[in-house]
Amino acid sequence: MNILVIGTGYVGSTTAMVFAELGWQVTGLDTDAHKIKQLEQGLLHFYEPGLEALLRKHIQSGQIKFTTNKDLAIQSNDLIFICVGTPSRPDGSADMRYVKQVAEDIGQKMNGYKLVITKSTVPVGTQEQITAWIGAAQEQPYPFDVASNPEFLREGKAVLDALNPDRIIIGSNSKRATNLLQSLYQSVKCPVVITTPRTAELIKYASNAFLANKISFINELARLCDAIDVNVKEVSNGMGLDPRIGASFLQAGIGYGGSCFPKDVSALILTAKQNSIELSVLEKVVQVNQTQHAYLIDKTRERLGSLANKKIAILGLAFKPDTDDIREAPALRVIESLLSEQAQIMLYDPVAVLPNSAAYKAVTECSQLEEALQDADAVLMCTEWPIFRKIDWAQMKAVMNQPNVFDGRNMLDAQDMRALGYFYQGIGF
Ligand code: UDX
Repeated sequence: MNILVIGTGYVGSTTAMVFAELGWQVTGLDTDAHKIKQLEQGLLHFYEPGLEALLRKHIQSGQIKFTTNKDLAIQSNDLIFICVGTPSRPDGSADMRYVKQVAEDIGQKMNGYKLVITKSTVPVGTQEQITAWIGAAQEQPYPFDVASNPEFLREGKAVLDALNPDRIIIGSNSKRATNLLQSLYQSVKCPVVITTPRTAELIKYASNAFLANKISFINELARLCDAIDVNVKEVSNGMGLDPRIGASFLQAGIGYGGSCFPKDVSALILTAKQNSIELSVLEKVVQVNQTQHAYLIDKTRERLGSLANKKIAILGLAFKPDTDDIREAPALRVIESLLSEQAQIMLYDPVAVLPNSAAYKAVTECSQLEEALQDADAVLMCTEWPIFRKIDWAQMKAVMNQPNVFDGRNMLDAQDMRALGYFYQGIGF
């Protein structure tokens, strides 16, 4: 089977590389000629551990190639994965214009049976829409199917997740499409759920929303833990041992970010509203997440008083470790809040950088961690990069103006920090 992946962004690049690794012949298509040129040279335009190595391996093996020639690409491949972006509109709905464009291109250019599959998170009902768009654009009535096969990979662990999924969801109304997708994944060992396209589309949203729910639950509970002198980390450990609850996604902090959780939770709430259903639990999940960064700032202000002209070191900008992605990163909200209080910000992240925007002009981005801590009145930990655990805090105490550490990711050992003479405050302990 020849596979075409349309859109070489995060999901598209990973999908393309993983299918090549599974032994299929893959073509990556994008309208961005610069991106395609870079990919052809073995270079990724984002940071993802292990992915560039796979890219180079399969350029060499000849399993993967890239193109901007959409007519030829559509005509010479039978399985077409749509991996173009679905950015959020101001009302939280997904902007489907790129998906529509791709569906129309496929309809116009197809020259025989095509199986078209969505991998990116798309609103419930998209499979039906794509079917209608392709049908309306067709110049000849070639047969085609449209299926949903959502992707559950995490940034920073994309290769691992995509090669070892917990489950494969196939949303399809056609036996032919289901069989093709099953043979595509034949070498992957995990449960396969075969269902309707609508169900598959909702499984993706519901999974992300449930995980966001767990995070906001523990984050709100952490506020209570602080008030009643209980350690939230121990609460999470104790709860997580119950297999019905599970230990993951119970790490309290300054909230979730990234390209998925915030967007998907809002989109699901909107879908519910459009169907006259209120997802009130999820509305609270969003509310807790939007205020969680402020909790860290409140703690800092309680200790330092006015933050005006205080030198604050921010460690970590990316929405989580092992990525340079700053979309919806809680660190951005922390920075914006501190700027509004006229604090002096020294920022260090091993990979991520601030957008080139006037809004962040007053922030000093440091290339060395020590430079960020120099004369700091407080350190705010915003991303749990593993290298931050290895900081020599005894030495840093001499570098800082005041030994205050506010750990927005609960990543340091409170006892050790306090033993070194730091004022240390986590989220919920
Ligand atoms: C998520 C889903 O995990 C993945 O299945 C889906 O396909 C895309 O969305 P991702 O956004 O890459 O993946 O990151 P994830 O590791 O899930 O973390 C999301 C956010 O939640 C991060 O900001 C992270 O810091 C935060 N988080 C996670 C917590 O605050 N506490 C936790 O216990 C876990």
